[in-house]
Amino acid sequence: MARILGAIATSHVPAIGRAIASQLQQDPYWKPFFDGWAPVHRWLAEQRPDVAVVFYNDHGLNFFLDKMPTFAVGAAPEYRNADEGWGIPQVLPFTGDTALSWHLIDALIRQDFDLTTCQEMLVDHAITNPLQLMYPGQAWPVRIVPVCINTVQFPLPSARRCYALGEAVGRAIRSWDSDARVVVLGSGGLSHQLDGQRAGFINRDFDLAFLESLVHDPRWATQFSTAELVEKAGTQGVELLMWLAARAALGERATQLHRNYHLPISNTASGLMLMEPAD
Ligand code: DHB
Ligand code: FE
Repeated sequence: MARILGAIATSHVPAIGRAIASQLQQDPYWKPFFDGWAPVHRWLAEQRPDVAVVFYNDHGLNFFLDKMPTFAVGAAPEYRNADEGWGIPQVLPFTGDTALSWHLIDALIRQDFDLTTCQEMLVDHAITNPLQLMYPGQAWPVRIVPVCINTVQFPLPSARRCYALGEAVGRAIRSWDSDARVVVLGSGGLSHQLDGQRAGFINRDFDLAFLESLVHDPRWATQFSTAELVEKAGTQGVELLMWLAARAALGERATQLHRNYHLPISNTASGLMLMEPAD
């Protein structure tokens, strides 16, 4: 059966793509952010995952407000990046793992998750950022399966539902008849708000409580409604649902191998966490 090696959760920001393209990793503004990735690079070199299942939110590149699935799973042989309007250089296409995609889709629909399946899917900075950060200068040693959670068009799925989705994805990966080594990614958050009167809002105390909860009390954030999450983390801070789903995929107990928290990166409190399943 396939094995989940661990979960990597990270913030994404279009400016990260521009910083990578301009080689600003040693720039004083960016250094504390990029330096946070060194332990993850060591872990990836040791663990050598074959596939990455990526919980992320699209920002209007593949889905726009006219058609917005709550949960969508990619089942494409290839995922292309395209111009999102942020001036980020586009990256090479990602190879999909269609066998795992269909296994996940089948297992999730059997467990009553009503999914949209996508045999064509453009992927935005929420996919390109984490993969570029994980594999600097390399063209994708992993195949990917994107799992998109709507955080753009209200109403959004609850934290409770995203946790349940993550648990179901974890069970499905572990039941996949394959010797693949799988890493789960969560791409989004932490606290940030890009628009409105609270533009620039960041909540360090809440972010740190959330990060801590993932280790010791992973269902903690499921007590909050979407409105409460927006109040605490900002309108776009609800992207932390991706972290919750990725953590849930690890099962009941997990150990933290690495954490970095640095703010701000653009308008966002950036976080990075590497966890392994404990059971
Ligand atoms: C920013 C953050 C995001 O999550 C995003 O999708 C776009 C921009 C930012 O902080 O600039
Ligand atoms: Fe975002």
